[in-house]
Amino acid sequence: MSDAPRGILVTGAAEVATCAGGLRRGSAQDDPAIAPPGTAVACLEGRIVAVAAEPEARDALAAALVEIGASPDACDVIDATGSTVTPGLVDAHTHLLFGGSREGEVALRQRGAGYLEILATGGGILATVAATRAASDRELAAHGRRWLGEMLRHGATTVEAKSGYGLDTATELRLLAIAGRLADDGSVDVIPTFLGAHAVPSEVRAAHPDAAAATEAYVRAVIEEQLPAVAAQGVARSVDVFCETGVFSPDQARRILEAARDQGLEIRLHADEMAPSGGAELAAELGALSADHLGCPSAAGIGALAAAAGSARPVVAVLLPTVPWFLGQELREPARELIEAGVPIAIGTDFNPGTSPVPSLPLAMSVAMLRLGLTPSEVLVATTVNAAAALGLADRGALERGRRADLVVWDVPTHAQLPYWAGAGLVRVVIAGGRVVVGG
Ligand code: NIG
Ligand code: FE
Repeated sequence: MSDAPRGILVTGAAEVATCAGGLRRGSAQDDPAIAPPGTAVACLEGRIVAVAAEPEARDALAAALVEIGASPDACDVIDATGSTVTPGLVDAHTHLLFGGSREGEVALRQRGAGYLEILATGGGILATVAATRAASDRELAAHGRRWLGEMLRHGATTVEAKSGYGLDTATELRLLAIAGRLADDGSVDVIPTFLGAHAVPSEVRAAHPDAAAATEAYVRAVIEEQLPAVAAQGVARSVDVFCETGVFSPDQARRILEAARDQGLEIRLHADEMAPSGGAELAAELGALSADHLGCPSAAGIGALAAAAGSARPVVAVLLPTVPWFLGQELREPARELIEAGVPIAIGTDFNPGTSPVPSLPLAMSVAMLRLGLTPSEVLVATTVNAAAALGLADRGALERGRRADLVVWDVPTHAQLPYWAGAGLVRVVIAGGRVVVGG
């Protein structure tokens, strides 16, 4: 069989939601840029070559094929009749790689234990750290492949993946290396993030007289030992910190993130997930790519994100509404307030074994619509173009000429039904990096 390049033409869709036009702020987030009826999408060599009326898209593809020396008819047609076509979804916040599972904590919480309380007694994140350290590279990679496959079958073509269940240099590097390899060999593009400051590991806690001294010693280890090794490894694109009352303070987060920036890495932050601790303010001050969770930012924090929203590179508020939902909390991220303040928002799954064992972005979209009061258009923008911006990726997240050919054909006639059929498997076809990787 010849491996000469072939084009792909996606035709006949009931709706093409392009999300074109770049990052959205404020009320513009309610516009997913629906293309006129009869629009087709043409792809060649991993890129979108045209989003236009079908005859025009066919001509553009034929011309592009001729330009690279291929036959103008070397084209596979995907019949999207009755379907909605959107950009491939971007999950801007996951803790993809870990050992074990923690279903037992659900029962503990049902009997009244708090999430941070379980962590303080050596469970929670620390239980996953023990299981992760004990897992082999093969096991961790197999786990990663399994859940990336699940994410892909729910429409995600780009997935951010944090380390953070190693909490020592060797295991953190191991997790990042595996994430990097999954990016190279899979259909989903994996974007690795270093989260050494996720919790203080038990051995460091045991070596110090109190929690404060242990946390301080661990912060120094992250800055002086882990970060330089991570930068030298060259896999992580950005650095994250769990900035939360009782975990790492804004001052400790600042020191880690400034050191990360000095190493040329991008920065992002778990901010104000469960209590307002100054995380949103810090993310805005440091010009982070994103401030994530924002379960309860202060008014000043929302103000700081609003002030940053006007800049060329605003801080994207990555909301993770399956977390309070899964933890059985009443808490709701102030999504409407953020949008009204002009802040760009994204929605992610926060896939992890403790607070969100949820690999499906469409399910997170449903929860965002139902619990945060977002419109279907807002949740689509928040999982495509704005989520790509949260990862600093300008080459995807929209169906526009020149962008990566990442797109999903959904088995519904309008994007308004994506969060409506909650929990359904609606994906008909996924094209990632110009290859048909699901359906077809
Ligand atoms: O994003 N908040 C910190 N980290 C994860 C939870 C990790 C875990 O419980 O294993 C989160 O919610
Ligand atoms: Fe998280």
